[in-house]
Amino acid sequence: MPFSEPLKKRLNTIISKSETKRSALIPVLREIQNEYGSLSSESMEEAAKMLEISPSSVQNVATFYTMFFTEPAGKHIVWVCRTLSCALRGAEHVEHYMCDKLGIKTGETTPDGKITLMEAECLASCGTAPVILVDDTLEENLTKERVDKVIEELSKD
Ligand code: FES
Repeated sequence: MPFSEPLKKRLNTIISKSETKRSALIPVLREIQNEYGSLSSESMEEAAKMLEISPSSVQNVATFYTMFFTEPAGKHIVWVCRTLSCALRGAEHVEHYMCDKLGIKTGETTPDGKITLMEAECLASCGTAPVILVDDTLEENLTKERVDKVIEELSKD
């Protein structure tokens, strides 16, 4: 699956701004994932060609970081912070509540393909714990009501 011309152009811009081709790997993978929702083996091979590195180097990075999905993920990714401040303020309950509402376990995607639920390390908003990251938006001081609202909004999309 060759990349579209607009995607290639964006990737070349990222690469040209990086000190070395290899150092563009993570932003390149992020851009590809933003386009397709996940990183297929074909897209990782294509990225390897553009970066002039081995496909296994790309795969190692893609499988090391939890922010990358090598299997199809949901349209929206919800990250539940499970680090100390959030843990002390009920992150476990938030996560269980979300799993129950969505009918999935952490790491899974809803059958309609809309939401993937993941655990995250500290999301850098400890003072407003418990927090979740919904795509690029932080939801703070979570309550069950707020979780209901977030899920409702994502399910409508
Ligand atoms: S511990 Fe959750 S944001 Fe820092």
